[in-house]
Amino acid sequence: MRTVTLTHVFAHPIAQKYLKRSGLAHAINAAYHAYHLALRHGVNVDLATKAALLHDIGHYTWYKNGRWDYEQYRQNDIHAIKGAERAHKLLIRLGEHPQNAKEIALAILLHTDSYLPEGEWKRTPLQAIVKWADEADEEPGGRHHYRTISDDFAWKKIRQLDELVSRQHAQGRLGDIV
Ligand SMILES: [Fe+2]
Repeated sequence: MRTVTLTHVFAHPIAQKYLKRSGLAHAINAAYHAYHLALRHGVNVDLATKAALLHDIGHYTWYKNGRWDYEQYRQNDIHAIKGAERAHKLLIRLGEHPQNAKEIALAILLHTDSYLPEGEWKRTPLQAIVKWADEADEEPGGRHHYRTISDDFAWKKIRQLDELVSRQHAQGRLGDIV
Protein backbone atom coordinates (compact mmCIF):
# COMPACT_ATOMS: atom_id res chain seq x y z
CA MET A 1 0.00 0.00 0.00
CA ARG A 2 1.16 3.53 -0.76
CA THR A 3 0.85 5.68 2.36
CA VAL A 4 0.07 8.86 0.46
CA THR A 5 -1.81 8.74 -2.83
CA LEU A 6 -2.34 11.41 -5.48
CA THR A 7 -5.94 11.59 -4.26
CA HIS A 8 -4.73 12.44 -0.74
CA VAL A 9 -2.44 15.11 -2.11
CA PHE A 10 -5.03 16.56 -4.47
CA ALA A 11 -7.74 16.71 -1.78
CA HIS A 12 -5.67 18.87 0.55
CA PRO A 13 -6.75 22.55 0.63
CA ILE A 14 -3.14 23.70 0.11
CA ALA A 15 -2.93 21.67 -3.11
CA GLN A 16 -6.34 22.87 -4.25
CA LYS A 17 -5.44 26.52 -3.68
CA TYR A 18 -2.04 26.53 -5.36
CA LEU A 19 -2.69 24.00 -8.13
CA LYS A 20 -5.65 26.06 -9.24
CA ARG A 21 -3.43 29.14 -9.30
CA SER A 22 -1.02 27.65 -11.84
CA GLY A 23 -3.61 25.51 -13.63
CA LEU A 24 -5.11 22.11 -12.80
CA ALA A 25 -5.00 20.94 -16.40
CA HIS A 26 -1.26 21.56 -16.68
CA ALA A 27 -0.51 19.87 -13.33
CA ILE A 28 -2.53 16.78 -14.24
CA ASN A 29 -1.18 16.51 -17.78
CA ALA A 30 2.37 16.79 -16.43
CA ALA A 31 1.61 14.01 -13.93
CA TYR A 32 0.41 11.72 -16.75
CA HIS A 33 3.50 12.50 -18.84
CA ALA A 34 5.63 11.73 -15.78
CA TYR A 35 3.87 8.39 -15.30
CA HIS A 36 4.64 7.24 -18.84
CA LEU A 37 8.19 8.59 -18.80
CA ALA A 38 8.90 6.97 -15.43
CA LEU A 39 7.63 3.59 -16.66
CA ARG A 40 9.78 3.85 -19.78
CA HIS A 41 12.91 4.76 -17.80
CA GLY A 42 12.45 2.47 -14.82
CA VAL A 43 11.92 5.35 -12.39
CA ASN A 44 9.59 5.23 -9.38
CA VAL A 45 6.14 6.13 -10.78
CA ASP A 46 4.78 7.12 -7.36
CA LEU A 47 7.48 9.77 -6.85
CA ALA A 48 7.43 10.93 -10.47
CA THR A 49 3.66 11.48 -10.58
CA LYS A 50 3.58 13.30 -7.24
CA ALA A 51 6.49 15.55 -8.17
CA ALA A 52 5.00 16.38 -11.57
CA LEU A 53 1.56 17.07 -10.12
CA LEU A 54 3.08 19.48 -7.61
CA HIS A 55 5.89 20.95 -9.73
CA ASP A 56 4.24 24.38 -10.15
CA ILE A 57 2.71 24.64 -6.68
CA GLY A 58 5.09 27.48 -5.80
CA HIS A 59 3.76 30.10 -8.21
CA TYR A 60 2.99 33.59 -6.99
CA THR A 61 0.45 35.85 -8.70
CA TRP A 62 2.34 38.65 -10.43
CA TYR A 63 -0.64 40.83 -11.19
CA LYS A 64 -0.53 44.56 -11.75
CA ASN A 65 -3.76 46.48 -12.39
CA GLY A 66 -5.62 43.21 -12.89
CA ARG A 67 -3.23 41.87 -15.53
CA TRP A 68 -0.41 39.36 -15.39
CA ASP A 69 2.87 41.28 -15.26
CA TYR A 70 5.30 39.08 -17.14
CA GLU A 71 8.25 41.40 -16.54
CA GLN A 72 7.77 41.32 -12.76
CA TYR A 73 7.42 37.55 -12.96
CA ARG A 74 10.60 37.18 -15.01
CA GLN A 75 12.62 39.34 -12.63
CA ASN A 76 11.31 38.06 -9.30
CA ASP A 77 9.99 34.53 -9.75
CA ILE A 78 11.26 31.79 -7.40
CA HIS A 79 8.42 29.31 -7.99
CA ALA A 80 10.61 26.21 -8.00
CA ILE A 81 12.15 27.10 -4.62
CA LYS A 82 8.81 28.00 -3.11
CA GLY A 83 7.17 24.95 -4.70
CA ALA A 84 9.81 22.55 -3.39
CA GLU A 85 9.27 23.82 0.13
CA ARG A 86 5.48 23.95 -0.14
CA ALA A 87 5.26 20.43 -1.59
CA HIS A 88 7.64 19.09 1.06
CA LYS A 89 5.59 20.57 3.89
CA LEU A 90 2.36 19.24 2.40
CA LEU A 91 3.71 15.72 1.87
CA ILE A 92 5.20 15.49 5.36
CA ARG A 93 1.89 16.65 6.82
CA LEU A 94 0.09 13.92 4.89
CA GLY A 95 2.48 11.30 6.27
CA GLU A 96 4.86 10.83 3.33
CA HIS A 97 8.18 9.16 4.13
CA PRO A 98 10.79 11.92 4.62
CA GLN A 99 13.09 10.35 2.04
CA ASN A 100 10.32 10.42 -0.58
CA ALA A 101 9.34 13.96 0.40
CA LYS A 102 12.96 15.04 -0.06
CA GLU A 103 13.31 13.41 -3.51
CA ILE A 104 10.05 14.96 -4.69
CA ALA A 105 11.03 18.38 -3.32
CA LEU A 106 14.42 18.23 -5.07
CA ALA A 107 12.82 17.24 -8.37
CA ILE A 108 10.51 20.26 -8.06
CA LEU A 109 13.42 22.54 -7.15
CA LEU A 110 15.32 21.48 -10.28
CA HIS A 111 12.46 21.29 -12.81
CA THR A 112 13.45 24.58 -14.42
CA ASP A 113 16.81 25.98 -15.54
CA SER A 114 15.70 29.58 -15.27
CA TYR A 115 17.83 30.57 -12.29
CA LEU A 116 20.32 27.77 -11.95
CA PRO A 117 24.02 28.53 -12.30
CA GLU A 118 25.54 27.76 -15.67
CA GLY A 119 27.76 24.74 -16.05
CA GLU A 120 27.95 21.00 -16.34
CA TRP A 121 25.76 19.12 -13.94
CA LYS A 122 23.52 16.14 -14.18
CA ARG A 123 19.95 15.58 -13.03
CA THR A 124 18.93 12.25 -11.49
CA PRO A 125 16.48 10.25 -13.66
CA LEU A 126 13.58 11.37 -11.44
CA GLN A 127 14.60 15.04 -11.72
CA ALA A 128 14.99 14.75 -15.50
CA ILE A 129 11.57 13.15 -15.86
CA VAL A 130 9.79 15.92 -13.96
CA LYS A 131 11.49 18.51 -16.19
CA TRP A 132 10.55 16.63 -19.39
CA ALA A 133 6.98 16.09 -18.14
CA ASP A 134 6.60 19.83 -17.59
CA GLU A 135 8.09 20.66 -21.00
CA ALA A 136 5.90 18.07 -22.74
CA ASP A 137 2.82 20.02 -21.68
CA GLU A 138 4.15 23.54 -22.21
CA GLU A 139 2.63 25.95 -24.68
CA PRO A 140 4.18 29.18 -25.99
CA GLY A 141 3.55 32.29 -23.88
CA GLY A 142 2.71 30.25 -20.78
CA ARG A 143 -0.71 29.36 -22.22
CA HIS A 144 -0.56 25.93 -20.52
CA HIS A 145 -1.26 27.71 -17.21
CA TYR A 146 -4.61 29.00 -18.48
CA ARG A 147 -6.10 25.80 -19.91
CA THR A 148 -9.12 24.90 -17.81
CA ILE A 149 -10.86 21.66 -16.87
CA SER A 150 -13.80 21.04 -14.58
CA ASP A 151 -13.26 19.89 -11.00
CA ASP A 152 -15.14 16.66 -11.80
CA PHE A 153 -12.89 15.84 -14.71
CA ALA A 154 -9.79 16.72 -12.67
CA TRP A 155 -10.89 14.32 -9.92
CA LYS A 156 -11.59 11.59 -12.45
CA LYS A 157 -8.13 11.95 -13.99
CA ILE A 158 -6.45 11.95 -10.54
CA ARG A 159 -8.27 8.78 -9.47
CA GLN A 160 -7.44 7.06 -12.76
CA LEU A 161 -3.77 7.93 -12.39
CA ASP A 162 -3.80 6.70 -8.79
CA GLU A 163 -5.12 3.37 -10.03
CA LEU A 164 -2.38 3.11 -12.63
CA VAL A 165 0.31 3.90 -10.05
CA SER A 166 -1.16 1.48 -7.50
CA ARG A 167 -1.24 -1.26 -10.13
CA GLN A 168 2.49 -0.80 -10.73
CA HIS A 169 3.00 -0.85 -6.99
CA ALA A 170 1.02 -4.08 -6.59
CA GLN A 171 3.14 -5.69 -9.31
CA GLY A 172 6.30 -4.57 -7.53
CA ARG A 173 7.24 -2.40 -10.48
CA LEU A 174 7.49 1.01 -8.92
CA GLY A 175 11.00 1.44 -10.34
CA ASP A 176 14.05 2.67 -8.53
CA ILE A 177 13.78 5.12 -5.68
CA VAL A 178 15.34 7.97 -7.68
FE1 LIG B 1 5.01 23.72 -15.37
